[in-house]
Amino acid sequence: RPRVLSGIQPTAGSFHLGNYLGAVRQWVALQETHDAFYTVVDLHAITVPQDPAELRANTRLAAAQLLAAGLDPERCTLFVQSQVPEHAQLGWVMNCLTGFGEASRMTQFKDKSAKQGNDRTTVGLFTYPMLMVGDILLYQADQVPVGEDQRQHLELTRTLAERFNATYGETFTVPGAHILKETAKIYDLQDPTAKMSKSAANPKGLINLLDEPKVTAKKIKSAVTDTGSEIRFDRAEKAGVSNLLSLLSTLSGATIAELEEKYTGKGYGALKTDLAEVMVDFVTPFRERTQAYLDDPETLDAILAAGAEKARAVAAETLAQTYDRLGLVPAK
Ligand code: TYM
Repeated sequence: RPRVLSGIQPTAGSFHLGNYLGAVRQWVALQETHDAFYTVVDLHAITVPQDPAELRANTRLAAAQLLAAGLDPERCTLFVQSQVPEHAQLGWVMNCLTGFGEASRMTQFKDKSAKQGNDRTTVGLFTYPMLMVGDILLYQADQVPVGEDQRQHLELTRTLAERFNATYGETFTVPGAHILKETAKIYDLQDPTAKMSKSAANPKGLINLLDEPKVTAKKIKSAVTDTGSEIRFDRAEKAGVSNLLSLLSTLSGATIAELEEKYTGKGYGALKTDLAEVMVDFVTPFRERTQAYLDDPETLDAILAAGAEKARAVAAETLAQTYDRLGLVPAK
């Protein structure tokens, strides 16, 4: 079986619709066909300040949401990054393979550090991409299911894997990006040219999966469209309508063409009502399942501990081989 690895940050509290459609939905599908490793990346989260109690709660909340979304611990390995110490260790090796200029060109770092200012930006945020590279290479992943915003980090992963292999001998699988065109970038409902993200300028633009279903329906009904009335997929001219169409298409299984046909002669209101209904049908059981996992923290922690043990077996082997290739002397 080919292998996949992916990760998600625990900081958001509730996952948003972009996380789900861009990444988590693919994770659930890929566990059927791939040897799948999925991780809640708490070490990535601490690149910005975190309240310890909140970080702990959010890490469990992230795991609960992944299980509620359909990850099955019998079919995939779900673990918390910090419980597998090899991530930090291989991350260090990756730092030592990366040029300072090369790391300085990472656009996510440039955007985030520009917002925070130099004095509040940590060195950890700067080295974040190399930690991510280590996450992927530790498992010899063939594919990495993510949204479009992670593409540059995946290119760095390929570059560093090839660099290491060329210098020290074949060690790492060079992974591909598994980015689905239709859901690579989910847009903000109030600013449909911007990516949906938890730092949305207007909270109405952001669909949190754990919001009250009523709130979600309301946000969809107040989504920005345009002054026309035609329901047609056209990102340039009709960004808002196109976003709603692609959301409904993905969630309902109907093609965009079928939807365009179905809504011919109908107004935006009809499209929004139907999308709101589909969303409510999705988030209502999702919230309940998430809560059920949170209500049983012992089971949740046991699932994560078992996942970390399975992950460590793979990660330790890759790290040992990497250290050996580098010329580090093993402990007797
Ligand atoms: P994170 O936690 O920001 O996001 C998790 C996943 O959600 C996707 N995503 C989106 N997809 C489509 N449209 C959107 N609006 C949208 N917003 C977010 C992201 O692309 C991502 O796939 N650096 C990563 C976490 C990470 C990782 C890894 C991923 C750490 N190590 C190893 C893959 C492999 C991140 O911050 O994702």
